[in-house]
Amino acid sequence: MEDSLHKNAVEEFYLKHGFATRALHAGEHIAGHHSNAHTVPIYQTSTFVFDNAEQGKKLFASEDSGFIYTRLGNPTTLTAEAKLNALEGSGAKLVDPENVRISSLLFTSGMAAVSGIALALLNQGDTLIRGDVVYGCSDSLFEHVLPKFGVKSVSVDTSDLDKFRVVMRANPKAKGVYFETPTNPTMSITDIRELSRIAKEINPECLIIVDNTYATPYLQRPLELGADVVMHSTTKYISGHGHVIGGAVITNHPEFKDKLYGIMKDVGSCPSPFDSWLIYLGLKTLSLRVDRHCSNAMKVAEHLEKHPMIKQVFYPGLPSHPQHKLAKSQMSGYGGVLAFEMKDGYEVARRLMDNIKIFTLAVSLGSVDSLIQHPASMTHAGIAAAIRQKIGITDGLVRISVGLEDAEDLIAALDAGLAKAAELAGKPNVVTA
Ligand SMILES: Cc1ncc(COP(=O)(O)O)c(C=O)c1O
Repeated sequence: MEDSLHKNAVEEFYLKHGFATRALHAGEHIAGHHSNAHTVPIYQTSTFVFDNAEQGKKLFASEDSGFIYTRLGNPTTLTAEAKLNALEGSGAKLVDPENVRISSLLFTSGMAAVSGIALALLNQGDTLIRGDVVYGCSDSLFEHVLPKFGVKSVSVDTSDLDKFRVVMRANPKAKGVYFETPTNPTMSITDIRELSRIAKEINPECLIIVDNTYATPYLQRPLELGADVVMHSTTKYISGHGHVIGGAVITNHPEFKDKLYGIMKDVGSCPSPFDSWLIYLGLKTLSLRVDRHCSNAMKVAEHLEKHPMIKQVFYPGLPSHPQHKLAKSQMSGYGGVLAFEMKDGYEVARRLMDNIKIFTLAVSLGSVDSLIQHPASMTHAGIAAAIRQKIGITDGLVRISVGLEDAEDLIAALDAGLAKAAELAGKPNVVTA
C-alpha cells in the first residue's frame, strides 16, 4: 500500500509545483482519512480494525491496501513521508514521471535512520567508505558498533576527491559511501556529483548515501546530483522547533527501500504518530524558516569574520570559505549553522558560552531559536582527541545554530558575550571592535 500511495503523491506534485506548494499540499489526502478534518489528524493508535477476517488475511498477504499496526504503517506517518518524498525528489531529471521511483521512510531518530541504512545495506565482511567528519554518534556507530558484526568502515576526507578516488580504488567492492555535506561541525563541502561519478565508475553497485540534515531538501537535493540515498535527522530543520527527535531516509532504489522497511519493521524503529505529526507540521513551513535561517546566518558570519577575537569563521556562504564556489554550485543557500575558532581557545570559548544572552547553551541545531555549543567537549566528544584535532574539531571551535530572531539582536548578543568572555579571561585588550 505504502508504495502506491507514495507514487500517487509524488506523481501529482512532482513536476508541476514549486517547493512551498509541494510542502503544503503533497500527500495531504493520501492516507484516506474519512473525517472532514482539514489537516491530517494524529492517528494515535497502535492497531487498526479489519473489516472481516478475509480482509485481515489479504492485508497480511499484501493483496489489499490498508493499515494493520502502527509499527508497519500509520496514516499520520505516511502523510509526512509522502511530503518528504515530494520535496527531496523534486528534480526533473531524477525520475521518469511514468516510473516514479523514490520513497521515504520516517524513523524514530536520525541515528535510527543511519543504523537502519547500515543494517539494510551491509553484511558480514562488507566495507563502507565514510566521510572523516560526521556527527559523533554516526562516527561511533561506524567505529564501534559495525565492527562487532564484521563490517569494516574506511574513513576518508570526501571533500578531497583525489583522496577519495584512492580509497575507492583500494576498496572497489565497498557497498556504500556515507558522508555529510556540509559536515557537522566543520562545514566542509563534498562535491556530490563528482564523488558519485567516481564511485560508480569503480563500482556501479555502490550506494552513495548523503546525510542532508544541515542543508535540508530546500537547499540541496542529493538524489538529483547522483546520490542514491538521503538521510535526515528530522530533529533539526525539518521539524524545526526543537520539540521532537526523528529521522528519515529517502531513496530512489525501490529494492533498497523494501530492505529498509523490513529493518524498520523488525528492529522497531518507527516514529510515534505524534512525532510524525510534528514533522508533518514542520515540513509545511520549512522553506520560510530556512530562508530566514540563511539570511541571519550570513549576517552573523560576516560580522564574526571581522571580530578581533575570532581566528576563522566556517560558513560555506562566505566567499572566504575554501569551497564557497562548490557550495554555490550544489546548494541554493548555505543554511543556519556556522562554526568559529576562537583565537584564545577553550578558556575564552567556555566563558562566551556561559555568558552569552539569547543563544541557549544546548546541543542540536535547526531550531527556530539560536543555540550555541562546543563540539570537542559535547557532540563530538566521543571521537579520539588526536583524530578530532586532525579533522579540525579543535578545542577553540564553537558551533552556533542561528535561529529566526532579529539578526541585529543576535549580533549584539555575540558582541556582548565575546566582550564579557575576554574580560573574564583577563584578555580585555583583544576586543578592539
Ligand atoms: C548531521 C547529523 N546527523 C545525524 C544526527 C543524529 O540525529 P538524531 O539526534 O535525530 O538521532 C545528528 C544529530 O545531531 C546530526 O547533527
